[in-house]
Amino acid sequence: MAQSNFWQSLFRTKPVEAYQKEAEQTGLRRALGRWSLVSLGIGAIIGGGIFTLTGVAAKLYAGPALAISFVLAGFACLLAALAYAEFSSIVPVEGSAYAYSYATVGEIVAWFIGWNLILEYMMGATTVAVAWSGYLEKLLHLFNLHLPYWLTNDPFTAAKKAQELGEAAPAFAVNLPGFLISWVVTGILLRGIKETASTNNIIVFIKVGAVLFVILAGLFYLNPDNWHPFIPAPETDEAGNVHYGWAGIFTAATIVFFAYIGFDAVSTQAGEAINPRKDVPFAIIASLLITTVLYIAVSLVLTGMVPYKELDERAPVASAFAGAGVGWATYIITLAAVAGLISVMMVMLLGQTRIFLAMAKDGLLPKSLFGYIHPTYKTPFRSTLLVGGIISVTAAFVPIVNVSELTSLGTLLAFTLVSLSVFILRIKRPDLERPYKAPLWPLVSLGGVAVNIFLMSQARKENLRAFAIWAVIGLMVYFLYSRRQSALQRKATD
Ligand code: ALA
Repeated sequence: MAQSNFWQSLFRTKPVEAYQKEAEQTGLRRALGRWSLVSLGIGAIIGGGIFTLTGVAAKLYAGPALAISFVLAGFACLLAALAYAEFSSIVPVEGSAYAYSYATVGEIVAWFIGWNLILEYMMGATTVAVAWSGYLEKLLHLFNLHLPYWLTNDPFTAAKKAQELGEAAPAFAVNLPGFLISWVVTGILLRGIKETASTNNIIVFIKVGAVLFVILAGLFYLNPDNWHPFIPAPETDEAGNVHYGWAGIFTAATIVFFAYIGFDAVSTQAGEAINPRKDVPFAIIASLLITTVLYIAVSLVLTGMVPYKELDERAPVASAFAGAGVGWATYIITLAAVAGLISVMMVMLLGQTRIFLAMAKDGLLPKSLFGYIHPTYKTPFRSTLLVGGIISVTAAFVPIVNVSELTSLGTLLAFTLVSLSVFILRIKRPDLERPYKAPLWPLVSLGGVAVNIFLMSQARKENLRAFAIWAVIGLMVYFLYSRRQSALQRKATD
């Protein structure tokens, strides 16, 4: 009996009605209209992905067919986006995927997904802080300004650089730009959602402008010969990895998936939206569709401007323009990346603190820390400070390499569970009012589960291992702390 109680308690759910009631008194400021939400989505999506990952994806894996990879990754995201849209119309709360699974599959799964969202949002924001530092350095170089390497790298990376230069390791090293930008973003977020949204709007204007510039200016330098053959013949390297052909297109799709991450963050702003049940679903789908069109156009232009093998792996957009003799475009692209990454960080940090807020409301995280809302600014003040602090210190001192795949894995798991939760809720609660209903049920939800699991299975083994270790730590925290403190647990034992 006791044992069955234990299992039942792991899968206890929080009623949808309880969430709907909570949504009426969020404590946050409802200031976001439909287009501010779309802009936040685009702010989170367009970032390092399109400016850098297109290089490796086209050059090594897809060739001109990179556009097909973007269609495939965009399609996988669309299935998830439709699920997010439906759920956010039923349960318009800031907890996003965490809350959706708490309402359907149960507490332990919800905890697990909340834990994984840390990989997406907090780790994502940290990688972006480090990437931002790299772009800033590039921008300064363009103007012949050079910062010493011990001021732009964590101590481990700086020691490596010193070795390469044949120098002694510096006594002190810090990634100062990464550290500072984390605090700038944190400062904006602390001030309030209106300030955040206005800053985001300006940045989105700049980066969408830059992407449109790439597309329109690129059109003048197209050489259609570069698109032939559109799908290069497959080649197998010494390690047995297949490049090009359809296998290459799939690999490239998993790489560029990162470029789409962010549309889901819109769902964490449900507590700050003026009309969340209609506008959040709209913004999730609209921001994804807009960026998908832009991404496909960029990939066609890039591979049409120069032969794909000549694209630079690290700076493909700038290299395509340099290759076409338009070197000055580098200024625009680098500046757009420097500005653009700030809003990616901003929305990720925003998303992280809102997820924590939802978990604290349910007792799974300490309420005084993560659930405290500033009376004037109406922002989760302590949580924002803490998360911003962790990101800044990590960006400053920890060598962050290749963790974008971990970010993708955390995101894919969230996408899978949200698609599954929509499916379950349609069966369990067909009676619920659904202001937005995903089409083609159950194809879209089950398709979402299948496609996202497939993409997860494509990850490299060492990342899957790191992912498993993260999961085990999460489960330990759950059993040692969250399960005991859960509001549902307390209610049951009262
Ligand atoms: N989609 C975001 C980027 O590409 C995470 O930077």
